[in-house]
Amino acid sequence: MSDLTASAQTIRRHRTAMVRHDLSQPVALLVRHGLIVPGVRVFDYGCGQGDDLRILSAGGIEAAGWDPHFLPDASQTPAAVVNLGFVLNVIEDPAERRKALTKAWALTERVLSVATMIVGQVPVGGLRPHGDGYLTSRGTFQKYFQHAELHTLITHSLGTNVVAVAPGIFFVFRSPEDEQEFLLNKRAGRRASTAAYRAPREPRSRRAVRPDLTERIPLALSEIAAFIRRRGRLPQADELHPHVLQELGTQSVSLARAVQVCLDRTISPKEVEAAAAFRREDLLVHHALGLLNRSPSAGRPSPAMVRDIRIHFGNQKELTVQATQYLHELADEDLVRAAMHKAAEVGLGVLDHRDRLIVDGERAEDLPGVLRCYFGCATFLSGDPDGRFLLRIDAGRRRVTMWPMPDIKASFPVTELSVRVDLRRQEVSVREDVRRLLRKSEVLGLSPRSRQRRVEVAYRVEHVLPNNAVFEKVIPAPLSR
Ligand SMILES: C[S@@+](CC[C@H](N)C(=O)[O-])C[C@H]1O[C@@H](n2cnc3c(N)ncnc32)[C@H](O)[C@@H]1O
Repeated sequence: MSDLTASAQTIRRHRTAMVRHDLSQPVALLVRHGLIVPGVRVFDYGCGQGDDLRILSAGGIEAAGWDPHFLPDASQTPAAVVNLGFVLNVIEDPAERRKALTKAWALTERVLSVATMIVGQVPVGGLRPHGDGYLTSRGTFQKYFQHAELHTLITHSLGTNVVAVAPGIFFVFRSPEDEQEFLLNKRAGRRASTAAYRAPREPRSRRAVRPDLTERIPLALSEIAAFIRRRGRLPQADELHPHVLQELGTQSVSLARAVQVCLDRTISPKEVEAAAAFRREDLLVHHALGLLNRSPSAGRPSPAMVRDIRIHFGNQKELTVQATQYLHELADEDLVRAAMHKAAEVGLGVLDHRDRLIVDGERAEDLPGVLRCYFGCATFLSGDPDGRFLLRIDAGRRRVTMWPMPDIKASFPVTELSVRVDLRRQEVSVREDVRRLLRKSEVLGLSPRSRQRRVEVAYRVEHVLPNNAVFEKVIPAPLSR
């Protein structure tokens, strides 16, 4: 108990420790990034009920831990990987948070993972403010950190560099070499699987999870999950449909509890992360275009957008800084080209022989943000094309060309005119441009084994066309007199 302040006796910190059936998010991230592998020793500082330890041990990892409530007599031993997962946010005393952080760091030989709850993860309406956090109805304390605030706390307390891995999760490396290696692998997108780490089935787990809750509040769970997928953050009560709140009321389940069940059972941390990343990019693109077009409404976001901005960027000023940076990136040809290659790699379009990206207009929303912005700048000048169309991004010449495709159902759809936007000169030209699309299957993202793909290959062979040709120019038939 020597590690605890007096108030910890009244605030029931241990009640924050939940039963886990899967690895906690920070530990799963350590596995996915290849930092926890067989042979590497793990220490979980503030391990709660010890489920991460049990799951890792069942997967063959040497793992130990300490917790002031659940494992107070365990020894605190140095390990290559140390996890300080969701501990700082349950401590109400800022000085004690720093102490826990430095103690965990002192045990760390290679990498320390620090995770906390962050602003927006749980609705706080109805909770009693206490210090810089809240007291919950269960007698626990919760501090919801801003991502940047946690970054500052770690760097100031440990005097070292940190790497952001997910919202509210940072890794701190002992050696710069380890950090560089990690960053390189991360950028290359290498990820290991957590499939080897599964909770051993125990009766206690079955009792702890109330399986009937998913049956009692199905509407609330599906609406909350849909909200999270849409906005990449948790809903506030006033953002949900009244019939959801009615269902929760009838079943005597609080919104906070429903959100927790949703996060445990309905939507995976990976999905939440992906939705947050997508929403961030949406906001950036949206705001960047607002700045570019000096749109008068850009300075008046909706209340829901204000919440999105606060959760995903901290404040409006930060969003503006990042959106301005984004606009500068548009002028960087290499960056735009890299985004085009990435889009082509994931099958979002095709690169032609001059390294231009051709995309189905219906899939433009899925493009990386910098390309969506590029396209948005073009349609700002030209207006949106009517009906189905293809677009081509030419980073070298800074041009976007759009072709209406009225007969997209045909095996080789033909277009008759193009709308070309020259971003450098800020010019739009519409001209007759009759051409046939030869690679519909790739542009629309059809399967490589599709019948369409075979038809296209046969056509190119029969007409002796180069393999990488995307279009074939068609000479329009002369008008009969
Ligand atoms: C939310 S639980 C997290 C448990 C576990 N790390 C997990 O992710 O499942 C917070 C834990 O921090 C522990 N704790 C409270 N104060 C602490 C301190 N000063 N140092 C280390 N752990 C502490 C509590 O006993 C509790 O078990």
